[in-house]
Amino acid sequence: MKPKHQTTPPRLARRSFVGGVAAGIATASLAGRVHAASANDEVRIAVLGAGGKGSQLASYLHKTRGAKVVIVADPDIGRAETTAALYQARPVIDLREALDSPDVDAVVIATCDHWHCLAAIWAIEAGKDVYVEKPLGHNQWEGRQVVDAAAKHGRIVQLGTQQRSDPIQAQVREFLHTEKTLGEIQYVQANRLGLRGPVGKRAEPLPFPKHIDRELWFGPAAVEPIYRNQLHYDWHWDWNTGTGEMGNWGVHILDDVRNVAYQDSQDLPDRITVGGGRVAWNDAGQTPNVHFALLETKTFPTMIALSNLPVKPGEKGAWHVSSASSPDQWPANAPGSGYVVVCEGGFYLGQRGNGQAIDRDGNVMRKFHENNVIIADHLQNFIDAVQTRDSSTLNAPIENGHFSTGWCNLANVAFRAGGSFSQEQLMADTEVAAWNHLVGGMTSHLSKFGVDARTLKSCPTLVHDTKNERFVGAHADLANRFLSREYRPGYEVRAIS
Ligand SMILES: NC(=O)c1ccc[n+]([C@@H]2O[C@H](COP(=O)([O-])OP(=O)(O)OC[C@H]3O[C@@H](n4cnc5c(N)ncnc54)[C@H](O)[C@@H]3O)[C@@H](O)[C@H]2O)c1
Repeated sequence: MKPKHQTTPPRLARRSFVGGVAAGIATASLAGRVHAASANDEVRIAVLGAGGKGSQLASYLHKTRGAKVVIVADPDIGRAETTAALYQARPVIDLREALDSPDVDAVVIATCDHWHCLAAIWAIEAGKDVYVEKPLGHNQWEGRQVVDAAAKHGRIVQLGTQQRSDPIQAQVREFLHTEKTLGEIQYVQANRLGLRGPVGKRAEPLPFPKHIDRELWFGPAAVEPIYRNQLHYDWHWDWNTGTGEMGNWGVHILDDVRNVAYQDSQDLPDRITVGGGRVAWNDAGQTPNVHFALLETKTFPTMIALSNLPVKPGEKGAWHVSSASSPDQWPANAPGSGYVVVCEGGFYLGQRGNGQAIDRDGNVMRKFHENNVIIADHLQNFIDAVQTRDSSTLNAPIENGHFSTGWCNLANVAFRAGGSFSQEQLMADTEVAAWNHLVGGMTSHLSKFGVDARTLKSCPTLVHDTKNERFVGAHADLANRFLSREYRPGYEVRAIS
C-alpha cells in the first residue's frame, strides 16, 4: 500500500480534537470498541514522537505480535514521514489527529519528556491505551494525574522501563531475598557514570527550524529561546523540557533498584539529600552533569552517583566512585551504568541484561544473563495486556512507573531547591557512613578538572510525605514549588477528579 503523506495543518487537527475528544464523543465510542477487543484483534498504534526512540519502537512494533503502526506523529514532519513510510503508516504533525482517529486503539509516546503526561492523559481520555516512555512525569504531580486518569478511564497504561520485562530480575530477587545467599542488604549504590559532552552556548538563539511546528513542539512548556546548538535530543539538559541525566538514565537504574533490591516495597523515598552541579563545561545546558543523592526509605538507603565527565580532562574512561570505607572493600568492576547491592556477605552487581554476585573476597558466586530482547518483550507485554484487557499482567504498570520516576524527580527537586554547597550540611541529618564516602569520592574527582567543590550546589535533607506526595518540614515550601510546573494555556495538565 502506498503511504499517505498527509500533513494536516495543526489548526485543522485542533478543531477536530475539540469537536471529538474534548467533547467526550470519541471517548465513549472508542472506549466501547476497544473494550470489545479480543486476543486476536490487531491493536492499531499511533507512535507519538519519531526521534531516536520513537523510530526504534516503531521498528519493534512492526514485528510485535498483534500490533500495527498506523500513524506516526511528530511536529518535525520530516521525521514523521520518514518513520511512517517504513510501515505504510500515515504521518501527521499534530498528535491530536491521532487521538481523534477511530482507527487508533493505542498510542506509544516517545516525545520529549515535557509532553509525556499531557499526551498520555489526552490519549486516555480519548479511549486509547498508552505505552509511555520514561520518565513518566516531567514533574511528579503530573505523573500522578496520569495514574489517576488511567484508573478513572480503565485504560491499559505501561511505562517504557523495559528492564521490567527482563526475566533476570525475578531470578535476582529470588537470589537476594529468598535464597539470601549474600545475607542482609545494607544499602545500594546506583551509578550512572557515563560520558557526555557540552551542548554548545550560542550568543544568539538557535533559529527554530522552519519545518518543525514550534507551537506543538513546546506544547505545555514555555516558549523560550534556545541557546544550545541543536533542538533535538539535547532538550534533555534544559529544565523547561527535560529532566537531566537523573530522569534519563537514572530512572532505569533506580527502577531496577526498586524492583530487585526493594521488591517494590518502597514507593517513594522518605528523605532526600542531594548535591551536584553543571561543571567543567561552558555550555547552555542547565541540568547537573555531576549529581549525587541519598534516598532514604523505611528500610535500607540507596545512593546514586551520577557523572557525565571523563576520568580526567581529555580522557575516555568514566569515573569510578566507591561508597566503601576503603578501596579493598569495594568491587573493582562495579558497573558504571548499574547498581551495587551491598550485603553483609558480598555484593550483587546489576546492570542492563546481566549481573553477578561476588563475595567479599571478590570471588564470583553466581552470574545472571538472559539473551532476550527486552524492548521487544516489553512491547509484547503491553500489546498482550491491551488485547486481554488485563492490566494486572503489565510488567511496568503505570503507578509503579510513577514511583520509579519519582525517585529521580525528587532528586531533581532537591537539586533545584538547593543553595551553596556545604559538605557538613549534606552529612548533618544522616547517619549513613557510606554517603560520606560517596560524596568524598565524587568531589575528589572534580579537582582533576580544576573545579572547586564549593561551586556545586547542595540541599539539606528534605523530608517527603510519601502518602501525600509532598515535602513536609524544613524547606518544604521551596521544594514543593518544583513538584509541578506552570503550563502554557491550551496545554494544561488538569487535576483528575
Ligand atoms: N526506554 C529507553 O531505554 C529509552 C531510550 C531512549 C529514549 N527514551 C525516551 O524516549 C523519549 C524520546 O527520546 P529521543 O531520544 O527519541 O529524543 P528525540 O529528541 O530524538 O525525539 C523526540 C521527538 O519528539 C518529538 N516531539 C516533540 N513534541 C511532540 C509532539 N507534540 N508530538 C509528537 N512528537 C513530538 C520531537 O520533534 C522529536 O522528534 C524521551 O522521553 C526519552 O527519555 C527511552
